Amino acid sequence: MNPHSLLVLGIESSCDETGVALVRTESGEAVPRLLAHALHSQIEMHQAYGGVVPELASRDHIRRVLPLTESVLRESGCTLPQVDVVAFTRGPGLAGALLVGAGVACALGAALEVPVLGVHHLEGHLLSPFLSADPPEFPFVALLVSGGHTQLMRVDGVGQYVLLGETIDDAAGEAFDKSAKLMGLGYPGGPALSRLAEQGDPKAFKLPRPLLHSGNLDFSFAGLKTAVMTQAKKLGDDLPARKADLAASTEAAIVEVLVKKSLAALVQTGLQRLVVAGGVGANRHLREQLNAACAARGVRVHYPELHLCTDNGAMIALAAAMRLQSGVAEATRSYAFDVKPRWSLDAIA
Ligand code: KG4
Ligand code: ZN
Repeated sequence: MNPHSLLVLGIESSCDETGVALVRTESGEAVPRLLAHALHSQIEMHQAYGGVVPELASRDHIRRVLPLTESVLRESGCTLPQVDVVAFTRGPGLAGALLVGAGVACALGAALEVPVLGVHHLEGHLLSPFLSADPPEFPFVALLVSGGHTQLMRVDGVGQYVLLGETIDDAAGEAFDKSAKLMGLGYPGGPALSRLAEQGDPKAFKLPRPLLHSGNLDFSFAGLKTAVMTQAKKLGDDLPARKADLAASTEAAIVEVLVKKSLAALVQTGLQRLVVAGGVGANRHLREQLNAACAARGVRVHYPELHLCTDNGAMIALAAAMRLQSGVAEATRSYAFDVKPRWSLDAIA
């Protein structure tokens, strides 16, 4: 197998989105090219339950993954026998959901007699800005803000990840989602809370900025959720009229902590480049605040394209291709797969 010219099929099924994509690596091209990607979001299905129902998620991945694969093949003009490697999300995520992607990827690999590669979901997020029009260069600090993780990493190259700090309880995405739920905004709460916050006053309520002055790069968001709950209870019948103000104040608290800790990570590492990835990276307020703070310090900041901020197959195909291209991983013809529902990113470095 020539790692410099590969057609990689990637499958993402770790949570509530089924994503499939095809990328191609070419010798002489630093970043693999995205040929096609297709996504099915289960948001509508889970909305009735106010959150992700794991068993329903798995069953839906089963329904979607092959039609999505056909769709990316059609769109790219490629055929299955042309695929060189099949990549899948090995973890972290919901075990049953992960098993669908892993099972399908390994069945395809065995049928096509091509190797397979399991990828870390967060590495996918972390590398996703390489698919943007303004790709970063190594080394950089990465702020990973997804539904389940909030981490600052030092990234020196593909597979070279040093954890600088992380949340000791809830993730930033969870803080958005849980606060939104308390305000009756449904699931997923982040985008809904953020939309409502546009009409509110971010200074209306004084909410805690947990661990802001802790002197390290760890985060904590559980206390913020409790403070939002206390405030919502205090407002009682006035809550509907003040909801936008509470949403704006909550968003401001989360964003301020994320921005200040990212800046502290840049100071600590002496790096001048920041990469923001994961679902919360789609937040407009976070982007504005980070852009302003980084511009003032001469720091370049990179984001994935907005539609690749949340879960997708493109980042999984990309991460696999970059791992193979840089020689930090080898695809395998052993199809006895396993998944890793809990898996730390710095453990793969
Ligand atoms: O990365 P992601 O798609 O899934 C995980 O790997 O967890 O992130 C989903 C998280 C959810 O918590 C969602 O509420 C949040 O990202 N999110 C947002 C926005 N868009 C998605 N949070 C704040 N503002 C947004 N615009
Ligand atoms: Zn994710």
